[in-house]
This record gives sequence, C-alpha cells and structure tokens, in this order.
Amino acid sequence: MIIRQRTLADDAEIYDVVKRAFAGMEQASGDEQNLVGRLRKTGGYVPELDLVAEDGGRIAGHVMLTKVEIAETPQLILAPLAVAPECRNRGIGGALIKAGHGVAKKAGFGFSVLVGHPAYYPKFGYRPAALFGLRCAMEIPPECFMVCDLQNSGARLDAELVFPPVFFGQD
Ligand SMILES: CC(C)(COP(=O)(O)OP(=O)(O)OC[C@H]1O[C@@H](n2cnc3c(N)ncnc32)[C@H](O)[C@@H]1OP(=O)(O)O)[C@@H](O)C(=O)NCCC(=O)NCCS
Repeated sequence: MIIRQRTLADDAEIYDVVKRAFAGMEQASGDEQNLVGRLRKTGGYVPELDLVAEDGGRIAGHVMLTKVEIAETPQLILAPLAVAPECRNRGIGGALIKAGHGVAKKAGFGFSVLVGHPAYYPKFGYRPAALFGLRCAMEIPPECFMVCDLQNSGARLDAELVFPPVFFGQD
C-alpha cells in the first residue's frame, strides 16, 4: 500500500470510494463524494493534501485537508476521510491521516480541525476543540469537534470556526 498525491486519473475511483464509504451511514450527508470535487475548486484547496492510498493498483482510501481561516490565520480542515468498505481495519485510514499530517506539518500549518468519531481520531493526536478555545458557529456534539496541534506548539486558538459554505453544498 502506498500513500500518494491524487492525480486527475484517480478522480472517478476516488468518487466511487468516497460514495461507498459513506453509503448508509447515519451521520453522513450523502454529499461527501461531491464535496471532494467542490473543495478542489476553492481557494482552500491544497493539492499536496489531496491524498490517496493505493493498494494493488486500486484506490483503497482517500483523505483531503483544505485551508480555512481561523482568526485570520490559515489552518486546515480534515474532511472527508474515506476507506473502501472492503479495505477497512488494515490501518489505511490511520496511514492517510498520518501522511496528511506529515505534509501539513512540513508546510508549516499549525492546526488541523475536524468533525468526526470521538473514539477514532484521538489515536492520531486529535483532542476536543474546547481545549484549544475553539468554538464552532454551528451546533456539533462537543466531543466530535476536534483539533490536532500539528507542531506540538501548545498554542491555543481562542476563536470561532465558521465552516466555509462549500461544506454545505455551495461552491
Ligand atoms: C473511519 C474510517 C476512515 C477508518 O478507516 P480504517 O482504514 O478502517 O481505519 P484504521 O484501519 O486506521 O483503524 C481501524 C481502527 O479504528 C476503529 N474505527 C473505525 N471506525 C471507527 C469509528 N467510526 N469509531 C471508532 N473507531 C473506529 C476500528 O475499530 C479499528 O480499531 P482497532 O485499531 O482498535 O482495531 C473508515 O471506517 C471509513 O471510511 N468509514 C466511513 C466514512 C467515515 O466515517 N469517515 C470518517 C468521517 S468522520
């Protein structure tokens, strides 16, 4: 299994993996596969943080981290993360997160923010956003709103995150 940057030739397969990964999930919007394409058209898109896990010539998983302004500083939102149902529990999701963090850290980003499973992401350095003084403009269960301090700076954010409209189906 290798983790690499997405190429144009991957897009149909990424779409399929993301769609199948979220299919039937109660908390899913059903829009995650389209969100990937929309995010690529925004100013927050970072090609180096659009990553696939390739296994035996097939795309097994995908992750995207895009830029968001928090208190006038560019930080990252990790979303979406998807692993094909038949490829789960082999560490692919974790490998994608760690690879994304590695690239983000080198690029100098301070924090990655996400909304996700509170039992999954703490393994990869995420902690409740409230510990960083980060609030969210929309209502999210507080344990699902998490932040990773990529540089281990110990800094706080003390700000409110407004999710860009692209996350709600708008370009
Ligand atoms: C969440 C997801 C990306 C994990 O991918 P993966 O490659 O199976 O993950 P890994 O192999 O790195 O980790 C597997 C571990 O995470 C746990 N895990 C997987 N999904 C979990 C969840 N929703 N909540 C808590 N733990 C979870 C597994 O039980 C396993 O635990 P173990 O290491 O103690 O055995 C994958 O299940 C997926 O695509 N789910 C549907 C889409 C989704 O929920 N995306 C994330 C949005 S927040």
